[in-house]
Amino acid sequence: MHALHRPARMHIASVGVSKVGFLFSLALGGLLLLLIPALQPTARQLDLPQPRPQVKTSSYTLQHNTGPPTVSDSAGDTETATGLSISSEGMNGTIETEPFENDDDKETYSEKNSEALSLPEGQSRILPRPGSRDPLELKDIFIAVKTTRKYHKSRVELLIQTWISQAKEQTYLFSDGEDKQLQMRTGANIINTNCSAAHTRQALCCKMSVEYDKFIESQKKWFCHVDDDNYVILPSLLQLLSSYHHSQDVYLGRPSLDHPIEAAERIKSNGMVSVKFWFATGGAGFCISRGLALKMSPWASLGNFISTAEKIRLPDDCTIGYIIEALLEVALIHTHLFHSHLENLQKLPTDSVLEQVTLSYGGYENRRNVVSIVGGFSLVEDPTRFKTVHCLLYPDTDWCPKPKPHHGK
Ligand SMILES: *[C@@H]1O[C@H](CO)[C@@H](O)[C@H](O)[C@H]1NC(C)=O
Ligand SMILES: *[C@@H]1O[C@H](CO)[C@@H](O)[C@H](O)[C@H]1NC(C)=O
Repeated sequence: MHALHRPARMHIASVGVSKVGFLFSLALGGLLLLLIPALQPTARQLDLPQPRPQVKTSSYTLQHNTGPPTVSDSAGDTETATGLSISSEGMNGTIETEPFENDDDKETYSEKNSEALSLPEGQSRILPRPGSRDPLELKDIFIAVKTTRKYHKSRVELLIQTWISQAKEQTYLFSDGEDKQLQMRTGANIINTNCSAAHTRQALCCKMSVEYDKFIESQKKWFCHVDDDNYVILPSLLQLLSSYHHSQDVYLGRPSLDHPIEAAERIKSNGMVSVKFWFATGGAGFCISRGLALKMSPWASLGNFISTAEKIRLPDDCTIGYIIEALLEVALIHTHLFHSHLENLQKLPTDSVLEQVTLSYGGYENRRNVVSIVGGFSLVEDPTRFKTVHCLLYPDTDWCPKPKPHHGK
């Protein structure tokens, strides 16, 4: 791009030196003008292999404390026409300043208010919008469940029996081994990622990379990732995502820390810079709109996710946060509706359990960490409480305890 602009400026500067020079530069300038459209596609293609955020804003809060800019190789490119056209597509729509729907979101936005104000007008600040005019359906959501061969029996079967049974078509289990038998018996979508079964950063990032590619391929509107110890309350998930639009930049989840994580980012010249960003903890699940997922492509698609993770040497969920918050400068929308086994799940008020989006359980072999909910199954029959939750949500399920018969029937 620079190479194209600079000569043009030089010719304009030379106007007036002499008549010959003037005519000469006119001719050259004309030639150049003719050439620009022809050259442009080439220039754009050359731009492609170098990952670069499409939306650049100079005043981003995450970088305030860190001194040097975090993505020095891509800063200063704000003038590119391609970047501008893509960012205006992100603005398309709808949601500017609608009232907040629930307290979680209100809290999030007041927390991040200073950041919101520092963003230029219209720059992908996403607010929930009550009363969407584009009704979202369950089939629009791609749900990825990360698992491993060793947990097919103890964890995955319970999920298939419960919530996955209500979202079979769009739920994919990403594992590291074949299980034709489970697939045949249950009809579940099990994907062998061929990634290592080790619980290492590389293996986890390898699975996330396959999840991402499968989602892009699926053409669905939302990507949600959960772990194999999560129960997804599908009606709540649908309700939550319905308040946003999939074409906007939406990254929703629960931060596992009460502060942004600080990582050392390797940059090209063997240097390191410090970078701070929020990330949604993978163990509680998180969701990403298709619009945002597409922008992640240079760092996430076709194995790029693994090299991005290597740059900061952090696990898969942190890497997602790094791409979205640090590179694309889209803020995580904090929600308390997602839950991992790292929390004290007993603290969730019983009457709010069914309104959550994800639940989890932990250590039920010895010290139980499960949601407190009462229903058709005892703790012995249902140590994770997932069956109990499921029967409260879907009482007609054939294995659920039947409600007391109505008189007259
Ligand atoms: C947003 O995009 C849709 C199609 O993708 C179009 O119909 C609509 O007019 C656009 N809205 C705005 C505000 O640009
Ligand atoms: C894993 O390997 C098998 C056999 O080579 C192949 O069919 C399958 O497509 C691979 N899975 C992925 C996600 O690449």
